[in-house]
Amino acid sequence: MLSSTLRIWIIALASLMALAALVWWRAGAPPATPMSGGTVRESGAASIGGSFSLLDHRGQRVSEQALLGHFTLIYFGYASCPDVCPVELQNIGGALDLLAADGPQGLSGLQAFFITIDPARDTVAALADYMPNFHPSLAGLTGTEQEVSAAAKAYRVYFSKFEDTPGTENYLMDHSNIIYLMGPDGKFLAHFGHGTTSEQIAAKLRELRK
Ligand code: NI
Repeated sequence: MLSSTLRIWIIALASLMALAALVWWRAGAPPATPMSGGTVRESGAASIGGSFSLLDHRGQRVSEQALLGHFTLIYFGYASCPDVCPVELQNIGGALDLLAADGPQGLSGLQAFFITIDPARDTVAALADYMPNFHPSLAGLTGTEQEVSAAAKAYRVYFSKFEDTPGTENYLMDHSNIIYLMGPDGKFLAHFGHGTTSEQIAAKLRELRK
């Protein structure tokens, strides 16, 4: 067993690196030189997100096409996560509850995805058991190792496995802890870091949907 202090330091370092990367992408790379008569591409936000192909916890194939026409909250984590993931999923569920309470329009055009970074344990069946702990509008997505890695790469999500005893199912995953908000055009709109409350997430969505 890794000492918990070491684990906390590694998680802190990984989170810091992810945040630094995000800030860098948000700030954008140095401005590109416009081609003659061309336009300058925004390099910042455009680099979070991209194509993926996964199965939801009901067994339906879900790709980046599912983002179109919706505001989508996306969080990467794993069902066996002892602390961080359940808190963030409760935050997302809480935000969806707050928006639902706004009235009949509350949840229309909104969805949320929990994408596992631990597909070995988080099968469709395992996520079918896990997701009802949170919110009916929150879908759990999984896939093959390659499919999950491709999705994590598209969203600049870091993850790494800590195995105490190789070959057992008893292991922890470190992973980025960021909730992404993608717009109805499928592109990155905003992110919420650790400590964001349900109220803050709901407020951002209300503001954007005005
Ligand atoms: Ni977690």
